[in-house]
Amino acid sequence: YNKIGIIGAMVEEIDLLHKHVEKTGSFEKAGITYVEGKLHGRDVIFCKSGVGKVNAAVCTQLLVDAGVDCILFTGVAGAVDPALNIGDIVVSTTCLQHDMDVTPLGFARGQIPYQEVWEFEADPALVQLALDACERQFQGRSVKGKVLSGDQFIASRDVVRSLYEELGGACAEMEGAAVAQVCAMNSTPFVIIRAMSDKADGSAHVNFAEFTVEASVNSHRIIDDIMQHI
Ligand code: ADE
Repeated sequence: YNKIGIIGAMVEEIDLLHKHVEKTGSFEKAGITYVEGKLHGRDVIFCKSGVGKVNAAVCTQLLVDAGVDCILFTGVAGAVDPALNIGDIVVSTTCLQHDMDVTPLGFARGQIPYQEVWEFEADPALVQLALDACERQFQGRSVKGKVLSGDQFIASRDVVRSLYEELGGACAEMEGAAVAQVCAMNSTPFVIIRAMSDKADGSAHVNFAEFTVEASVNSHRIIDDIMQHI
């Protein structure tokens, strides 16, 4: 890869990139600041997309247009797989929009109507790099799995259980599947890295407030390790 795009949705998620990237320039488009520079000797552009699928989609397309040839996403998520604890890492194998619901017309939950693909596959080589990084950094506190995205903060035991049982999700967040879909539309390889800030249950809002910074650090450690081996 000649130029690597890195996205986080919130300030906590890109804070460590601001500290570690040697900046060479920046540009602004659609209200998003794109910072250009070098990380471990590699050309990167990183940015804060803002929260939600629309922000993530616009940000991803603009990164692709700026010439990145792969995209890494770093951030926090609510654990959906009950085996996951706060701080653990999920590496995306696929991404699905859990709030895409045209079931009244006979489409499957999550299916984008009239589209053959609605579960978007992360790049296998990037997934492997991320899993290797997880092994080096966290020895087993990680899983690969399906990242579920929607414009909703999940904070209910019943909802999180249905996301696990009906959709087979590993974690829930608000951007990954939008990044994934735009990457698929552009044939751009991507992987989503998420550290768990909460369990998407009745305590999610409290845990999110307490653990977002710590989880963001864990996710950044994976990105930083990937950058040394990519
Ligand atoms: N990001 C972190 N925790 C989340 C949750 N519970 N739901 C959606 N996005 C999240």
